[in-house]
Amino acid sequence: MDKLVIQGGAQLNGEIRIAGAKNSALPIMAAALLTRDVVTIGNLPHLFDITTMLELLGCMGIESVVGEKLNVEINSSTIKRFNAPYDLVKTMRASILVLGPMLSHYGEAEVALPGGCAIGSRPVNLHLAALKKMGAKIIVENGYIKANTNGQRLKGAHIFMDIVTVTGTENIMMAATLATGQTIIENAAREPEVVDLALCLRAMGADISGEGSATITINGVERLHGCQYQVMPDRIETGTYLIAAAATRGRIKVKDTRPSILESVLSKLEEAGAQIDIGENWISLDMHGQRPRAVSLTTAPYPAFPTDMQAQFTALNAIADGSGSITETVFENRFMHIHEMNRMGADLKVEGNTVIFRGVPFLKGAPVMATDLRASASLIIAGLVCESETVVDRIYHIDRGYECIEEKLQSLGAKIRRLPS
Ligand code: UD1
Repeated sequence: MDKLVIQGGAQLNGEIRIAGAKNSALPIMAAALLTRDVVTIGNLPHLFDITTMLELLGCMGIESVVGEKLNVEINSSTIKRFNAPYDLVKTMRASILVLGPMLSHYGEAEVALPGGCAIGSRPVNLHLAALKKMGAKIIVENGYIKANTNGQRLKGAHIFMDIVTVTGTENIMMAATLATGQTIIENAAREPEVVDLALCLRAMGADISGEGSATITINGVERLHGCQYQVMPDRIETGTYLIAAAATRGRIKVKDTRPSILESVLSKLEEAGAQIDIGENWISLDMHGQRPRAVSLTTAPYPAFPTDMQAQFTALNAIADGSGSITETVFENRFMHIHEMNRMGADLKVEGNTVIFRGVPFLKGAPVMATDLRASASLIIAGLVCESETVVDRIYHIDRGYECIEEKLQSLGAKIRRLPS
């Protein structure tokens, strides 16, 4: 397994380009299952998860053509199997996103049931309950979700999501585009990635309104057509580099991003002492060489502070001036990075779903192990502010969600290199 070796102490300074959003690209790729025409998706990030989704579509018999300019053309008319096998689903939970569109368009779908993962049990009961309410017959057998519509179209329904779920909202929104009648999703996720998917579906001919609010209305149509769509910038990648720069007391500019979808993170960075400037598609951060101040925060669905940025901000707080608390309300077990950071000399205590922290002036390098995607990013940030060398093991997690992370960090002045296995 590859490792990353980081020699801490360098301030991050310079400019980088932000890639397309992974969590937007994945549902948009799944949406290509809703039409037999070609869907051309641009600004795709170069990531393992994207390759996994292409592989998943490929094993159903769907042809994709990957272009040179981060484009992919997906043509689902060649579909032969309506099955997402366990081998792929276990490497990427977002594979569940093929369930709604496949069932709605082709009337049947078999998708391996995703298991728990490093950050919690992560059930998909709300996806299944909503599809059942739309008339799907679903059984879970031998580790697979087996769904069909008895040769009928799904029926529009009034759906109340007990918990705000991002992929759940996306799955049902996609399924509803080809259902008969109207579907209303209440307590829908308001994440920008849900909005991006809705915009793509609308470009395919779907009748959707209310995306970005807690109530999304979809009037089913008989068919959708192909389209060309550019994936929006990745807000989590954007935030991760800004936090890394703040932790190293640096000054960076991130380009090809969208400041308006990062308000909660930018305001926390300002509270930590960063000077933030924004343009239409860029953000600059300048710490003026100062140590960050401690910032307490609570994660919650958008527009609140994102759980996908909790680990990275914990790394910042670990070396900040002062003390505070971080509360995680979205996932029950998203604190695996805490124990690794404590091995690097941090002062972090987990109490239930809260971390009580006291910032220390610097961390000390250690061999550490990444347990999930965002935890990996946080350990890299911790490594950047160490006095000595840190080796981050199990780095395959990072390649699922961060494009060329060591090259981007190197270009900002970090001393980081990959040790191939
Ligand atoms: C998506 C993101 C992930 C992010 C998360 C929360 C993608 C591909 N992934 O994951 O990066 O961390 O949103 O912003 O977009 N839940 C249930 N039953 C369900 C569905 C969810 O109990 O049927 C619970 C989950 O266990 C969790 C909470 O709801 O506690 C939110 O999860 P959800 O929004 O569904 O996360 P994902 O969509 O899997």
